Amino acid sequence: MSPGAGDRPTDAPPHAALRVPAPDDGTREVPWSERVALPDGTPVLMPNAAAWLAESAGEVDAELLALPYPTLCRLARVLPEIGAEVPLRTALREVLATHAPDGARLAVEAGCGVGPDLPALRAVADAVVAVDGGVANARVARALVRGEAVAGLARHEGRSFATGEDIVRAALDGVTVVVGNALELPLRDACADVALAANLVDSIRDPLRLIAELDRVLRPGGLLVLTSPFAWDDRITPPEAQLGGSTIPAFAAMGSEAALAAILRGETPWLSHLRYAILETRDVPWTLRDHARATSTYDVHLLVARKATATG
Ligand SMILES: C[S@@+](CC[C@H](N)C(=O)[O-])C[C@H]1O[C@@H](n2cnc3c(N)ncnc32)[C@H](O)[C@@H]1O
Repeated sequence: MSPGAGDRPTDAPPHAALRVPAPDDGTREVPWSERVALPDGTPVLMPNAAAWLAESAGEVDAELLALPYPTLCRLARVLPEIGAEVPLRTALREVLATHAPDGARLAVEAGCGVGPDLPALRAVADAVVAVDGGVANARVARALVRGEAVAGLARHEGRSFATGEDIVRAALDGVTVVVGNALELPLRDACADVALAANLVDSIRDPLRLIAELDRVLRPGGLLVLTSPFAWDDRITPPEAQLGGSTIPAFAAMGSEAALAAILRGETPWLSHLRYAILETRDVPWTLRDHARATSTYDVHLLVARKATATG
């Protein structure tokens, strides 16, 4: 990854489903030609794009090892998954292949991270739009989508990192990575045949709003795939917004897994208009390497649901 080193690449025309939210009001849009972009060309499709870039300044064009310490820690945990056989990614590939609608034109991923699931999404849809709020994540995801080498990264301990063998994945055509907010997706209503949020529900400020946004962009009959270890963290998701074990009595009693299914079926006072059929659920282990002497293993809940059509 050597972003910022060259001229701003000229990208293909934007996917018709993408929109550039207006700075003053995320529901309106401005012409594509006025979008903000990273030096590597990644579009930043947020109403507050300039402010977000200022906040993410350390990630915008730094070389890999010069990225901020917390960013390096996060990347070192997830980069080893690329190209490796990981049970969670295999399970996602399987459920997408099994349940995605035939002839799907667009798959959308919210919170794509460095993009471990983009090949599986592209395998079931003609085009993929992947959105992540993390500037460094989006840069890495984009580089991998373009078949560019990204240095492997390992954390020894503390602030000691080392780069390893380059990671290269076959280039994927038809996949667009953008910096954007999953709570305000830069996409038109009902544009997607498939929507995926892998490990985002518990990594976001407002999970209910995330579900509402995914529902907004998913067409009737479309496929929704969610995974989460429900590892709630008060610094990310306030307790009153957590789906399980939260301060919302109804959800606290249910637990996250049951709460998520009930929300999607429209059985709770929140998002009671939703009508999803749950097609499949399973729990899958997910292990990430924290540093040379520690790994974290989660029991990730995977849920596959189909949005009702007008006729049910
Ligand atoms: C736990 S990671 C999961 C990444 C990837 N889906 C995976 O399974 O490896 C959560 C991701 O969501 C992104 N994220 C968090 N809040 C977001 C938001 N409001 N909008 C877009 N992306 C967000 C983070 O930058 C991070 O890449």
